[in-house]
Amino acid sequence: MSKRPNSEDLSRTGHKPGLGWVEQFLGGSPESELAFLKQAMDDINLVQRRNKKTGGAKTEARAFHAKIHAGIDNAEYVVMDNIPYELQGGILVPGARYRTDVRLSSASGLIQPDTKGDLRGLAARVNTDLGPQDFLGTNAEQSHARNARQFVEFAKAASGSKALMFPRLIGNLGLSETVRMMRTVIGQVKRPIESLVTESYFSRSAYAFGDLAVKFKFTPNSSFSNKSEPSDSFLRDDLVIRLQKAPVVFDFQVQYFLNEAETPIEDGYALWASLPFTIAQLVLPQQDLLCQSARASSANVEDIEFNPWRTTKTIRPLGSLNRARRSVYPASVRLRKGR
Ligand code: HEM
Repeated sequence: MSKRPNSEDLSRTGHKPGLGWVEQFLGGSPESELAFLKQAMDDINLVQRRNKKTGGAKTEARAFHAKIHAGIDNAEYVVMDNIPYELQGGILVPGARYRTDVRLSSASGLIQPDTKGDLRGLAARVNTDLGPQDFLGTNAEQSHARNARQFVEFAKAASGSKALMFPRLIGNLGLSETVRMMRTVIGQVKRPIESLVTESYFSRSAYAFGDLAVKFKFTPNSSFSNKSEPSDSFLRDDLVIRLQKAPVVFDFQVQYFLNEAETPIEDGYALWASLPFTIAQLVLPQQDLLCQSARASSANVEDIEFNPWRTTKTIRPLGSLNRARRSVYPASVRLRKGR
């Protein structure tokens, strides 16, 4: 059950929840962060080339989230009538409804059977009169990587020789961080899931909504259930059945930054202590994903270049995990689209 932050949050923080946050450069200075960011684009392209080879694919795919389960172009993002006043502004207007494109994916850069352990992703493009607004989430709350450097090192090591993965990570990130990251990833991908629509999809990283720092997540809010037998494509098959019978709804929830200790901006592994509450809903209408027009829609959604920096003007990604994504997503797109 979600609750709004309350006076307890106010008395704990000494300021209004959401305020008082700061960002910090990776490596402590703008110059060191910039050097890392430049290299990160090449590193992600290397991951794509390696995945192409490993998967025997003809062309490079998305560096992550290569496998699409469904692309839906008639979803709706509906802002709650009771969205708190302090979060209102830009696209977040009480009662506003926006046509939304949704891409559901598996997180690996390799196309694999659904039975293989993996994380899953939900990318939503909210089409508004202020421009497109993308929200991206994965179905585990904690990022294995505390920051962008760890994220890229891990991606590089994981796509290379399996024998060298551990020594490379230890050499670059140290033993205890390597063990922590491996444990996190293994625990997350091993968790079996029954359906894409019963999962929550977390931003993992922070965003400024106006002046307020938040994390967001899509939380399932549908009652229809289904049991699909595990197969290479059971996640899509399950979605097809559910959407034939009823709409699928996710609550779009946010939780506030409180202070650096309880809700750090620059540590993607830390769980935030604040309470999530609902400010909007994402509704996938009842439909037949197997019909010809749905397949055409899916192909159109597959072509969308989702990017957490594609935002409307009152929303801004925060933290190094996000800052790296600003140049890395376009780099991944350029290689896979041959630009
Ligand atoms: C920490 C929170 C993150 C979340 C929730 C997240 C989520 C996602 C999702 C859902 C997608 C699929 C988008 C689609 O359907 O097209 C995606 C793609 C991708 N992600 Fe992330 N991601 C995160 C962090 C990162 C970081 C730190 C990097 C690299 C520095 C990264 C690099 C990529 C790349 C290269 C793609 C493919 C882009 C493309 O070719 O279109 N992600 N991510």
